[in-house]
Amino acid sequence: MSLVREIKSGVQWVGAIDWDRRLFDSLIPLPHGTSYNCYLVSGNEKVALIDAVDNTMVEVLLSNLKTLGVNNIDYIISQHAEQDHSGAIQRLMDIYPKSKVLASSKCMELLIEFSILPRDRVMEVKNGEKVDLGGKILEFIHAPWVHWPDTMLTYLSGDKILFTCDFLGSHLATSDLYAVDEPTVFESAKRYYAEIMMPFRQNIKKHLDKIRELKIEIIAPSHGPLYDNPDFILSAYSRWISDEVDNQVVLPYVSMHGSTKRMVDYFVDVLIARGISVKRFELTSSDIGELAEALVDAATIVIGSSTVLTGAHPHALYAALLANALRPKIRFASIIGSYGWGGHMVDQLVASMPNLKIDLLQPVVAKGYPKEADFKALDVLADMILAKHKELRII
Ligand code: FEO
Repeated sequence: MSLVREIKSGVQWVGAIDWDRRLFDSLIPLPHGTSYNCYLVSGNEKVALIDAVDNTMVEVLLSNLKTLGVNNIDYIISQHAEQDHSGAIQRLMDIYPKSKVLASSKCMELLIEFSILPRDRVMEVKNGEKVDLGGKILEFIHAPWVHWPDTMLTYLSGDKILFTCDFLGSHLATSDLYAVDEPTVFESAKRYYAEIMMPFRQNIKKHLDKIRELKIEIIAPSHGPLYDNPDFILSAYSRWISDEVDNQVVLPYVSMHGSTKRMVDYFVDVLIARGISVKRFELTSSDIGELAEALVDAATIVIGSSTVLTGAHPHALYAALLANALRPKIRFASIIGSYGWGGHMVDQLVASMPNLKIDLLQPVVAKGYPKEADFKALDVLADMILAKHKELRII
């Protein structure tokens, strides 16, 4: 079986769709699978492959190349060393012994460290360097920290195609070559941004500005569908990386015996009554990708936790650590929950989010089941969130 799709004359999609993969990095849920896109660019004199596939899909890639009758590859462009794009390179090097890998210096170093290829088969390409395949010229644009330090983009100016590797991609297995189902692709791309790109928001701003200067008809990422309407994804990214936040509270919580849940139930209602939208996540059953996605735009996070063995519940700590790692642009945070005989639940959660530049609003912690005074304190917290959101003019 093979699947090859022409993008433009001399430019073919030869990647693999991983319909059944459900976890990435042993961390990120993939409810809709993913794809490892790679592209064969054939000039009059030379042939280049842009990125490879995950090692588990190497046979698919080889079959696609066989279908096209490829008996030589001059250059394998490794835009990023992570194994979902580089895993198949070793095998390709064996099958195409004259091929050379072209990569940024950082990518080169990582490929060698990962034992994917020997030093004498890889050549560094500098930012702005070009390779002429004969009628097709590839230009390399270094774009570090989207999301590793090694990443580069490849611009095929004659065909106005920008190959972006992980950047602007989505974990979405689909039969559509292009993003025709825009609402579905938007959700997948936003979730992908949240999980992978959001910590690098400031770097991405610079790279987006550079990309906007290029004439682009097609954006070809290495995951998910391509964009033949580049403005669709560029506009979405412009909003996600901006400093603007929405009138929204993200509320991840865990409750052992119902006290914290009672507080969460009440608190959600009083927020809604004040015109604030809420995204609520019960942490023993939630998809952390959805939680990450909710953090892209929200102004406020409130974590709900029971107290376990004098500290925060591990699920609540996990949510705090995740938010801390993803560095969303949220402005305000608070904690609600309960305890039986004391503990450091609030201190632990606050200490788990040092990366977030947040204004911490007065936590509400009930002793045992919440009582009238606790509900009043939740009213005060909701009023405070309302006032803060009004100051931002988002309500
Ligand atoms: Fe798709 Fe960073 O690898």
